[in-house]
Amino acid sequence: MAGAVRLEPVDEQNLEPLLSVAAAEAEPCDVMPPVEAPAGWSLARREAFREFHRASFDGLNGPTRTQMYAILVGGEVVGMVRMTRCDEPGTVETGMWLGRSARGQGIGASALRELLNAAARAGMRAVVAETTRDNVGAVAVLKKCGATLHDKGGKVRAEICLDSTPPVL
Ligand SMILES: CC(C)(COP(=O)(O)OP(=O)(O)OC[C@H]1O[C@@H](n2cnc3c(N)ncnc32)[C@H](O)[C@@H]1OP(=O)(O)O)[C@@H](O)C(=O)NCCC(=O)NCCS
Repeated sequence: MAGAVRLEPVDEQNLEPLLSVAAAEAEPCDVMPPVEAPAGWSLARREAFREFHRASFDGLNGPTRTQMYAILVGGEVVGMVRMTRCDEPGTVETGMWLGRSARGQGIGASALRELLNAAARAGMRAVVAETTRDNVGAVAVLKKCGATLHDKGGKVRAEICLDSTPPVL
């Protein structure tokens, strides 16, 4: 299963499938910033989800300095992984979510490895992430991908140095 994981830049074609997965299988707080809208996947929140992703269509050199990728398994969209340029040169911050039915199968680690490859191709030297200790899945995925973890004020900061990341076969 994990071998078939592929990333596609989020664009107008995969945006609706991505929204369908988010609305059916994820909480708004896991997939987008908070917005003033009726609770749940209301029409206003769905439109805000689209606009949030469209704002990053220009990628790392665009206004949000963010490249978002749809995560595909067997051609089906199952989640999203992104990288955002940090102020420190050569460094991007990453974040990811999967629909509930795609979790716990190793897809998260495969998607992050693909993201590391994309970051290296974009000339990056380090990928960082922030999560919490109670997010067992996220911590495990980061460790599997070679991250060093530091606890800082109730959060966990992860750093992956791309120079030392083993090649993905
Ligand atoms: C975090 C997330 C991307 C992880 O991806 P995933 O594909 O489910 O992770 P994996 O299947 O590769 O699991 C990695 C490891 O964590 C373990 N794990 C995953 N979720 C777990 C949970 N809730 N409790 C305990 N262990 C868990 C798996 O068993 C696996 O361990 P193993 O390698 O020893 O088998 C996914 O769970 C998710 O989308 N969560 C909601 C959004 C989110 O929290 N994003 C991260 C924000 S920082």
